[in-house]
Amino acid sequence: MTQDEQKRAVALAALQYVPMGEIIGIGTGSTANFFIDELAKIKHQIDGAVASSEATAERLKQHGIEVLNLNSVSRLPVYIDGADEITHNMHMIKGGGGALTREKIVAAVAQQFICIADQSKFVKVLGKFPLPIEVIPMARSYVAREIVLLGGQPAWRQGVTTDNGNIILDVHNLNIMNPVELENKINQITGVVTNGLFAKRGADILLMGTDQGVETIT
Ligand code: A5P
Repeated sequence: MTQDEQKRAVALAALQYVPMGEIIGIGTGSTANFFIDELAKIKHQIDGAVASSEATAERLKQHGIEVLNLNSVSRLPVYIDGADEITHNMHMIKGGGGALTREKIVAAVAQQFICIADQSKFVKVLGKFPLPIEVIPMARSYVAREIVLLGGQPAWRQGVTTDNGNIILDVHNLNIMNPVELENKINQITGVVTNGLFAKRGADILLMGTDQGVETIT
């Protein structure tokens, strides 16, 4: 299977986790887009969706799926999203698409996080994919210097402004042996809004696309 075929297969497999008559959380990126396209076929079974980005909200609306404000939702049984890297213990790097903060918020509210990913995302150690950090614009240089002290090499994702009006630093050359500790450490730097480590709240289920089909990892 090609990478896109794997993405489509996991998107289809994720439909079985969509509860009837509920509101669900939806991530951002190419795999999430495949999922939205599949979800559109059963849209009458759900009560609407909470989007993790403007791009996802737009795609949902194009399919006629109602997009709800997270503040008006009291329960979110499931959040379905892709990842840039994921380990066997369900820690992830996310934010390649720049939507990490809203993704982390919607994931925090959801009872269950279903990660949908092609096999290339499954890694032993996180960090080959540069770790995205959303930063308040005026803190950019300060945060970059603090990241260097932690051993990373930050690169400003120039020309990109997040849905929240902030900038992204992509941190290269991190060998992340303790993702929970690093997630906390980076979040403590003043000016950091969120970092793309999803370790404190990792995925609950990984649907991974392989050449043999979809593998379910818990
Ligand atoms: C978006 O900000 C990211 O967290 C995505 O979930 C991640 O980049 C995966 O994207 P793809 O599904 O396009 O690989």
